[in-house]
Amino acid sequence: MADSDRTVVVLGATGQQGGAVAAALRADGWAVRAVVRDPSGQRAQALSADGVETVRGDLGDPDSLRAAFSDAHGVFSVQPNSGQAGSGVSDEDEFRFGTTVAEIARSRGVAHLVYSSTVAAGPTPTGVAHLDVKSRIEDHVRNLDITSTVIRPATFMEILTLPGMGLDQGRLSFLTHPDRAMQFIAVRDIGRIAAAVFGSPDRYAGRTVEIAGDALSGEALAERLTRASGRPITYSRLPTTLLERDELLGRTAALVDNGRLVGHADLDALRAEFPFLLSFDRWLAGPGAGLLDEAFRSAGTGVALR
Ligand SMILES: NC(=O)c1ccc[n+]([C@@H]2O[C@H](COP(=O)([O-])OP(=O)(O)OC[C@H]3O[C@@H](n4cnc5c(N)ncnc54)[C@H](OP(=O)(O)O)[C@@H]3O)[C@@H](O)[C@H]2O)c1
Repeated sequence: MADSDRTVVVLGATGQQGGAVAAALRADGWAVRAVVRDPSGQRAQALSADGVETVRGDLGDPDSLRAAFSDAHGVFSVQPNSGQAGSGVSDEDEFRFGTTVAEIARSRGVAHLVYSSTVAAGPTPTGVAHLDVKSRIEDHVRNLDITSTVIRPATFMEILTLPGMGLDQGRLSFLTHPDRAMQFIAVRDIGRIAAAVFGSPDRYAGRTVEIAGDALSGEALAERLTRASGRPITYSRLPTTLLERDELLGRTAALVDNGRLVGHADLDALRAEFPFLLSFDRWLAGPGAGLLDEAFRSAGTGVALR
């Protein structure tokens, strides 16, 4: 049960997942403390306006985390993506950030740590370093003497409207197979699920939960996008020539082919447990509507893999 006297520290709150988690925790009545690199920045200011305490901190600065976690009940841990071009974060940085957060949470007596990983994590390597680093962080978290929950989000629905996916040219090009389903989740729902996890620690302590809101093939995605936008959208999988040329994309596509990245969450069970979960249709009519409009206006090149 949420308690406004108890504080949950949220990392990455100026970003997608952390932002959604901070909003959902506030809605559930928690006190929320966001660790931000620039408290005077626009996003940090917006968090303050929404009643979130912001404290200056950096994942690379353990002292700042020690100070931020003081007296905290919970910590939501997410790391910037070491696989994202231009992020400036190496795989080893991501590992160090994730393990440092967990160790400091334990040493500060935090009651519940929630770590956001990826659907592709698991006991055997994928061969994609920025995904495998999350499996290593998961293991580290599980082996620490702290109550923890790992959530493994499916591919974000938001990724489908990024520049470079082709929507401005009337097509969607992604890794999904045209006729085989892949699971997706709305970022908003990652936040709501994390808040539900903090709200029911006995239920979620020690668990690893794969989370998704819908499962669609490439053709089904295009059909939903066509209906929502009123513009004809066709689907084509990213061309083989591109997958051969771009090693990371090629390896990631192979993980879709072998099932590792498509998601295997039990959607019926999740929808019963978290009735707010958005289908792709409902996301397109809700939080995704503005992003879809934007996608038709923004030409882009290259596939944004996150
Ligand atoms: N896209 C997908 O489909 C998908 C699916 C599953 C998992 N993931 C994983 O999700 C993670 C990214 O989550 P996201 O999309 O929510 O991230 P995001 O929107 O890119 O935001 C990153 C956040 O991390 C903060 N940050 C970056 N470097 C920092 C540092 N040194 N110290 C403190 N904070 C720092 C950023 O703060 P500033 O505002 O200061 O930059 C920002 O708040 C990645 O690990 C990715 O692999 C993605």
